[in-house]
Amino acid sequence: MADHFARPESGPIPALRWEEPPEGPVLVVLDQTRLPQEEVELVCTDVQALVGAIRTLAVRGAPLLGLAGAYGIALAAARGYDVNEAAEALAHARPTAVNLEYGVRRAVTAFREAGSGQGVAAALAEARALHAQDAAASAAMAEQGERLLAELVPGGGYRILTHCNTGALVSGGEGTAFAVVMAAHKAGELRRLWVDETRPLLQGARLTTYEAARAGMAYTLLADNAAGSLFTAGEVDAVLVGADRIAADGSTANKVGTYPLAVLAKYHHVPFVVVAPTTTVDLATPDGSAIEIEQRAGSEVTDLAPSPLGTQAYNPAFDITPPELITAIVTENGIVSPVTSPSLAAVCPA
Ligand code: MRU
Repeated sequence: MADHFARPESGPIPALRWEEPPEGPVLVVLDQTRLPQEEVELVCTDVQALVGAIRTLAVRGAPLLGLAGAYGIALAAARGYDVNEAAEALAHARPTAVNLEYGVRRAVTAFREAGSGQGVAAALAEARALHAQDAAASAAMAEQGERLLAELVPGGGYRILTHCNTGALVSGGEGTAFAVVMAAHKAGELRRLWVDETRPLLQGARLTTYEAARAGMAYTLLADNAAGSLFTAGEVDAVLVGADRIAADGSTANKVGTYPLAVLAKYHHVPFVVVAPTTTVDLATPDGSAIEIEQRAGSEVTDLAPSPLGTQAYNPAFDITPPELITAIVTENGIVSPVTSPSLAAVCPA
């Protein structure tokens, strides 16, 4: 089961943390559905609660889903649940971000390969290793991305447009695309961060603004459909987004609304950059058509307005941007540009 409790201390709240109170180990996650109004944590004492938190997007964003999957296996093992059943439930809680399945697989493998009585410790150690690896990847992407921005936008003073939420809320570190934005901000080179609302669940309006405000950035929120006029006005130097799954040919699944930005960027000759760790690359998925796109409840769309009873809604959570629209993919192991199957494979661990 999951309980809510408000965390009293000040300072940044980690998106997820493992704790071992006397009653037994728990995974504590920041409930992102309640942000920015309330900073409330959810205490997951079992896998079912964690699966629920993933489905409702209390825990979300590709790298964080990977961590949740790995810690979820450690939680199942520590609480004496069937690890195979837990793996099945966690890996399929959401279908598009490959990190979830990846995190689950790593912890399950560690659990199975551990000596007798060592399974719990091994799964937890693997989750912690993935956590540390993700933080390091985030820092490396920030460095690589900042270097790339300097090349793509000579003169600095970047005006960056982003979509969805890609900061510390989705990562063991400072995130993916947002980590690059942070690096530019810290270097005094960020003129403005343009934040798409990201309908229908408003990850941009609720979460990216929350992170940008905390960082003291100059940022402006816009309705998703205002992006075209922003490009026309010449106000965008680069688009930076994250990814949920990158297929072997470089096709990139990311939050729905990313693809239209890539089309706009191409038309306006503005660089369109994807920032993602190699754990988001899935070389076993050949191209974009093979990526399963999560379809979410129509009520997420109809309830925004609200619409007349019985109104049907089309609500894919993600869309696919083809490689020819992507200027570069920034990974922790280097920059992929132009985006081709061999150049992408070259940065991925064997
Ligand atoms: O449905 P969400 O909120 O989990 O979608 C998240 C995104 O699409 C992010 O842009 C993506 O995970 C990359 S950020 C690390």
